[in-house]
Amino acid sequence: MVFVRPPSQSAGDDGIVLSIAYISIASKDLSAEELSALVDQSAASNARDGITGMLVYHAGQFMQVIEGPEEAIKALMLRIRRDPRHHDVYELFRRPVTEREFPTWTMTLCNSEALTVKDRSVLSDYLHQVRAGTGVGADREDAARFGTALLEQFCKAMLRHRPC
Ligand SMILES: Cc1cc2nc3c(=O)[nH]c(=O)nc-3n(C[C@H](O)[C@H](O)[C@H](O)COP(=O)(O)O)c2cc1C
Repeated sequence: MVFVRPPSQSAGDDGIVLSIAYISIASKDLSAEELSALVDQSAASNARDGITGMLVYHAGQFMQVIEGPEEAIKALMLRIRRDPRHHDVYELFRRPVTEREFPTWTMTLCNSEALTVKDRSVLSDYLHQVRAGTGVGADREDAARFGTALLEQFCKAMLRHRPC
């Protein structure tokens, strides 16, 4: 599902937006309908708040990037942390950026079922290592870099299937 709607607000006066990425564990296995409802509601409120990003769902785990005006992102992150649909929210990074990674997506879901077997296995290993603090997960910066690269790769794969 790809939402291509320009955000109502883009960035601060200086053109800088805040970008946060995290991983979390779903409280229960979500059906396709529940995931779709979550993304539809998120996309609607993100469009209102000038927020863009991407959500990956894989084997009961989430990985998400949200980017937008600093106050809106901080407020959203607080709401996300309180959401009972998931737990063990672990921030990979929180950083100001001058360019959005996902400028046209108010929220796009990448259900890992759409990924290749190899990509799913790389994602599983990554999530495991971040949780266990081993491999790439032993260093927060490495984990953030690797996570960003993974999300970009999934984003490109999705664009190939469903160009916007
Ligand atoms: C994994 C996950 C990702 C979410 N992503 C967003 C999002 O991008 N934007 C959003 O408005 N809500 C998102 N939500 C929903 C929020 O946690 C929250 O339910 C919603 O913002 C409404 O908050 P409120 O009931 O306090 O108004 C997400 C929830 C989960 C579990």
